[in-house]
Amino acid sequence: MDIMNADFLIELIRTTTNMYAHGWDERNGGNISVLLDEKEAGKYLDLTNVIRTIPTGFTAKELDGKIFLVTGTGKYFKNVQYDPAKNLGVVRLAEKGAKAELLWGLTDGGSFTSEFPAHMMSHVSRLAADPESRVVMHCHPANLLAMSFVHSLDEREFTRTLWRMCTECVIVFPDGVNVLPWMLCGTNEIGEATAEKMKTARLCVWAQHGVYGAGRSLDETFGLIETAEKAAEIYLKIAHLPVLNTITDGEMRLIEKRYGVKTREGYLD
Ligand code: 13P
Ligand code: ZN
Repeated sequence: MDIMNADFLIELIRTTTNMYAHGWDERNGGNISVLLDEKEAGKYLDLTNVIRTIPTGFTAKELDGKIFLVTGTGKYFKNVQYDPAKNLGVVRLAEKGAKAELLWGLTDGGSFTSEFPAHMMSHVSRLAADPESRVVMHCHPANLLAMSFVHSLDEREFTRTLWRMCTECVIVFPDGVNVLPWMLCGTNEIGEATAEKMKTARLCVWAQHGVYGAGRSLDETFGLIETAEKAAEIYLKIAHLPVLNTITDGEMRLIEKRYGVKTREGYLD
């Protein structure tokens, strides 16, 4: 079957296009990785045909043999829809994650995203927390980024501010938002630090850079980032104004009860 008809590919093309339209992915900003079901990938690809092998520079034995659809490094999200095979790739991790076998795409000889370590290490953390986790998404949404310049980076405080900005935030991300201080991107170090943060929450802000989200589907992960970004936008609209009304911790407890969500331990007073 033609991979251009694969739901996983169509969804990723739509998602990158939508993220660009939201202004989250200027130039080559942002990257996505999706864990594919081997059987599903096998319907479209000859899994014995390795086009080339790319060293990853790290190991992740938990992901050995796993297949991912990923965005390429230096590729523009706005262009993915016009040439998916050049801008995206399907890779299978081998040799305990030290190598990635290219099964499809990256037709111009390119490589997977420079943030591959953060993506793969985050998948390990999220799969341990939720076996149905499939997606890791990184982008540069302006309001979360701006907020990281003017708000305390204390994770509890950062989370509580966002929760207070829209009633539904606490339902969408009851696990909160973790925060990494500025670090050099594209390295194993930021990958390891991100993965550590991903053990306790599905969102991690990279201060002065962007955000990481993780979830079971592209839609869910997009919605997670979209909700946090909207909350950050509201924060920036009101941060310089006298605040007369707010959502109290008691009211958030009511939301918890009504919607059956459990907020991160110790985050509500
Ligand atoms: P890539 O083009 O390598 O995916 O990098 C974009 C980016 O956002 C780096 O953090
Ligand atoms: Zn980035």
